[in-house]
Amino acid sequence: MNDLRLITGGFFYLYIIMEHTICYLSKQTEALKNSELEELFKYILAINPTLNITGALLYNNNFFLQVLEGNKETVNELFATIRKDKRHKNILIILDQKIENRIFENYEANFSIMKTKADIERLNTYLSQYDFENKYPKNLKTLIEPFLL
Ligand SMILES: Cc1cc2nc3c(=O)[nH]c(=O)nc-3n(C[C@H](O)[C@H](O)[C@H](O)COP(=O)(O)O)c2cc1C
Repeated sequence: MNDLRLITGGFFYLYIIMEHTICYLSKQTEALKNSELEELFKYILAINPTLNITGALLYNNNFFLQVLEGNKETVNELFATIRKDKRHKNILIILDQKIENRIFENYEANFSIMKTKADIERLNTYLSQYDFENKYPKNLKTLIEPFLL
């Protein structure tokens, strides 16, 4: 009985600590104004730390590129909400997998929206970890290139 409890507890612990990442590209819907974008960014920066979600949201030429890192259940739930959001469309998942370590953890902003050099360097590190160069077709790379160094 004790053994069973230990095993169940072990699985439960693993489940709790399992970390996951989702990275996607999407296109802004036409209706989105600058002020609405600002509102959205403010909202995200306030909410994500409370969910212990790290990552980045980059915006360039009507496209969003977002990286979410965190507890698997939290990431999946958040992404389920995000993908239903009418403010963007054509969502293209680039990565959806478990991770050993978060790339954006210990980063001063933890969750970042600004397109600073440091943000982009993080994104490069993140993508290179997954053999991005060899894994994805050229047309996808072309879409992501504006976000990279
Ligand atoms: C491109 C994009 C990225 C988003 N990223 C996040 C995010 O990281 N965290 C978050 O809480 N909401 C994010 N949102 C907003 C959610 O889609 C949603 O509006 C918000 O979570 C409120 O959902 P609710 O009204 O169902 O509570 C994002 C929306 C868009 C369009």
